[in-house]
Amino acid sequence: MAELNLILVGPPGAGKGTQAERITEDFNLPYIATGNILRAAVAEGTELGLKAKGFMDAGGLVPDDVIIGVILDRLQAEDAAEGFLLDGFPRTVPQAEALGADLSSLGRQLTAVLLIDVSDDEVIRRLSGRRVSAKTGRVYHVEFDPPKNEGVCDVDGSRLIQRDDDKPETIKNRLAVYHEQTEPLVDFYSNLGLLRRFDGSRPPAEVHDRIRAQIAALRVEGSL
Ligand code: AP5
Repeated sequence: MAELNLILVGPPGAGKGTQAERITEDFNLPYIATGNILRAAVAEGTELGLKAKGFMDAGGLVPDDVIIGVILDRLQAEDAAEGFLLDGFPRTVPQAEALGADLSSLGRQLTAVLLIDVSDDEVIRRLSGRRVSAKTGRVYHVEFDPPKNEGVCDVDGSRLIQRDDDKPETIKNRLAVYHEQTEPLVDFYSNLGLLRRFDGSRPPAEVHDRIRAQIAALRVEGSL
C-alpha cells in the first residue's frame, strides 16, 4: 500500500482539527498537530512551551527555527514511517521548504495538501463559539456541534473550556497572520500539483465525505 503523507491547511477555525479526528480514524494515520504539541508544551512548562507561549497568546506564529526541528524530529518516529497527517505545519514557505527537503532526503514525498477554505466571517463565528475538552482535546461548537450536556465532553464528561487564543482581538490577529504568512502556501503547493481544495463552509459530515473520497482516490492512484 502506498504511503499517505498528508497536510491539512486552512485558516484558523476552518475545521482542520474537526476533520483530522475523522481522517486519522478512517486511514489509521498518526495525527501531528503543531497547535496541540505547542499547547501541551506550554501546559507542561517545557523549554519549547516557554519559547512559544508569548507568540501564541498574541495570535502570532512561533518562529520557524523553534518549530521546524520539533516537527521534523516527530516525523522520524516509527508510527509516521508509513504515513502521517500534519495539521498546522507547514505554516510558512520556509517551513514548507524545510519539510520538502527533509522528506526528499529520506526518499519520501507528500501525497497531497488538503486546503479547507472558509471566509473570515465564518472563522470569527466558529472560533468565538468553539469549546474544547480540557482533557481529551475533543472540539465542540456551542451552536454548530454542541455536546449532549452543556459544558461537558461527550467522551468522558470532562469540563469544556475556551482556548486563550479564541478571544475576539486575538482571532483578528490570527486571521491577519494567516493571510500574510500561511496563504502563500496555497500557490506554493498548487505549483507542485499537490493542492486539493475543499469548501469548509459545508456541514462537518459533508466536508468529511469529500475529503475521505479524495484520499481514497489518491491512495488507489498511488498504488497503481
Ligand atoms: P492551531 O492550534 O494549529 O490553530 P489554528 O490553525 O488557528 O487552527 P484551529 O485549531 O484554531 O482551528 P481548526 O481549523 O482546527 O478548527 P476546529 O476544527 O477546531 O495553532 C495555534 C497556535 O500555535 C498558532 O496561532 C501559532 O501561534 C502556533 N503554531 C501552530 N503551528 C505553528 C507553526 N507551524 N508555526 C508557527 N507557529 C505555529 O473548528 C473550529 C470550530 O468550528 C469548532 O468549534 C468546530 O466545532 C466548528 N466547526 C468545524 N467544522 C465545522 C463546519 N464544517 N461547520 C460548522 N462548524 C464547524
